[in-house]
Amino acid sequence: MTVQPTSSLFKPLAGTEAPVDIWFNDAPLRVPGGRSVAAALLAAGVSRFRSTPVSGAPRAPYCMMGACFECLVEIDGVPARQSCMVEVRDGMRIRSQEGARDLPPEIMQDAPALENAHGR
Ligand code: FES
Repeated sequence: MTVQPTSSLFKPLAGTEAPVDIWFNDAPLRVPGGRSVAAALLAAGVSRFRSTPVSGAPRAPYCMMGACFECLVEIDGVPARQSCMVEVRDGMRIRSQEGARDLPPEIMQDAPALENAHGR
């Protein structure tokens, strides 16, 4: 039996392959369109998406299907977005997520005596 070569399992969405211009950590970046933010950043050579809250170790996408949470970034001011689950769009402002995400200010105003979000 001969196995015929097939095209990749991962294809851009039809008709949306045109490059898009985004910002990553305040630097302009032209990335391929028609794919997730994670796929677009990887295609553009970005390899560090976030750092861990405890040791600060660098992380990058692993599963590309929303299961591992290694691809968390801030997208348009919203922290902890799974970049593998969001389609890249022109003008997006994306930042790597360094450590734990910040809590919204209104939560911190209601808990001034807490040392951290867990009340410890
Ligand atoms: S790469 Fe695993 S959740 Fe995004």
